[in-house]
Amino acid sequence: MSPAIRMKSTATLSIQIITFFLFTATLSSSSPPSGFSIDLFQRRSNSSSSRISLGSSPYADTIFASFDYIMKLQIGTPPVEIEAFLDTGSDLIWTNCLPCTNCFKPFDPSKSSTYKEKTCNGSSCLYEIIYLDKSYSRGTFATETVTIQSTSGQPYVMPETIIGCSHNSSVDFKAFPSGVVGLNWGPLSLVSQMGEDMLGLMSYCFSRKGTSKLNFGSNAIVSGNGTVSANLFRKKEPPNMYYLNLDAVSVGKTRVETLGTQFHATNGNIIIDSGTTYTYLPESYCNKVRTEVENVVKAEREASSPDNMLCYKTSNMDFFPVITMHFQGGADLVLDKYNTFKTNGEVTCLMIICDLLIPTFGNRGQNNFLVGYDPSSQLVSFKPTNCSALWS
Ligand SMILES: *[C@@H]1O[C@H](CO)[C@@H](O)[C@H](O)[C@H]1NC(C)=O
Ligand SMILES: *[C@@H]1O[C@H](CO)[C@@H](O)[C@H](O)[C@H]1NC(C)=O
Ligand SMILES: *[C@@H]1O[C@H](CO)[C@@H](O)[C@H](O)[C@H]1NC(C)=O
Ligand SMILES: *[C@@H]1O[C@H](CO)[C@@H](O)[C@H](O)[C@H]1NC(C)=O
Ligand SMILES: *[C@@H]1O[C@H](CO)[C@@H](O)[C@H](O)[C@H]1NC(C)=O
Repeated sequence: MSPAIRMKSTATLSIQIITFFLFTATLSSSSPPSGFSIDLFQRRSNSSSSRISLGSSPYADTIFASFDYIMKLQIGTPPVEIEAFLDTGSDLIWTNCLPCTNCFKPFDPSKSSTYKEKTCNGSSCLYEIIYLDKSYSRGTFATETVTIQSTSGQPYVMPETIIGCSHNSSVDFKAFPSGVVGLNWGPLSLVSQMGEDMLGLMSYCFSRKGTSKLNFGSNAIVSGNGTVSANLFRKKEPPNMYYLNLDAVSVGKTRVETLGTQFHATNGNIIIDSGTTYTYLPESYCNKVRTEVENVVKAEREASSPDNMLCYKTSNMDFFPVITMHFQGGADLVLDKYNTFKTNGEVTCLMIICDLLIPTFGNRGQNNFLVGYDPSSQLVSFKPTNCSALWS
């Protein structure tokens, strides 16, 4: 999901993170108080090598939950399985924790021998995340063992991982997860806390069916037939997001350039995010794309469309054009109609939303691509893949 707009540090190092919250998606983002990063880097440089066995890559199982993707991980000693949103748009890993009220599947720190509350200058380190819809998670930072799987068959164990233990969350997940796993470039994200040996490499393959895998390290390199790559950028604001640069969108054979619009850039203009469902483009440019769709689709408009979406009174996909997203670096993603249109009964809507929010390439548009993030090469690679067949 999208970015933090504000972060506040108090004497107790409580951080406040104000974040956007889209319809179904999650988001958070934070830069940790500086004391944290120092602590983190020291620990990381020491212990990462002991975790890596060459030729073995960590991974987690993922599940589709109507609008979002959920990953399984284990926390604590003995390990307890939790399910959390997989969010490349934030960094913090947090889960519901006892004591709490009305919280789904809380983790019980008292039953774990490795749980350790983090102290900042003698008292608890508090965090607070407030989402755009005013929902929030509040809790304390802790260190705890996080375990996922690995291709060697041995568990991939991350001792002393910094997590948020949420005691008061109003986040309505609409599904079953009990937290969020942040995966952006921020120092608290899961991939960052795996250590530098992992090179930030990460891949996933989303589809509407079945389970899939989130891979890290060498097994997350995406290559081979049909692979195309987009340049990856990091920007100051919002920080720690994975930015691509969208040059144009083709509607059928008509290419709508960003050049000449305010959206045009050469150093990143759109976030790629697993935690946002739809694709969001800034209004001036988006309306050009939308007009082109309107020119092509000869079906009756549905007037009462939610969220200012472009909808038609038909479920016949033959009416709708193929949409291609052209990213800088040579990734021309020819999207399936499922990626760009959503049918509900007899109404079909374009899933590209014209909005003031930060431009975002959401998870639906990424369906059936094996998507690999490679921060050291500054590339995100896409390989057309039948994701539901990949691991079944
Ligand atoms: C830590 O606490 C001491 C004593 O209360 C205070 O003087 C100091 O500024 C605090 N440091 C931080 C980083 O909050
Ligand atoms: C850090 O690594 C060194 C050398 O590998 C080891 O002797 C030391 O015990 C480690 N420290 C911690 C805190 O793990
Ligand atoms: C949780 O936070 C809300 C909003 O600030 C507050 O009204 C409520 O009392 C808190 N609940 C608990 C159990 O602390
Ligand atoms: C690569 O793609 C081409 C064109 O689609 C196809 O002819 C070829 O068999 C593919 N090679 C492999 C190894 O899949
Ligand atoms: C993708 O794989 C699934 C499961 O193997 C299969 O049922 C489906 O037909 C495949 N889709 C395409 C487009 O090949």
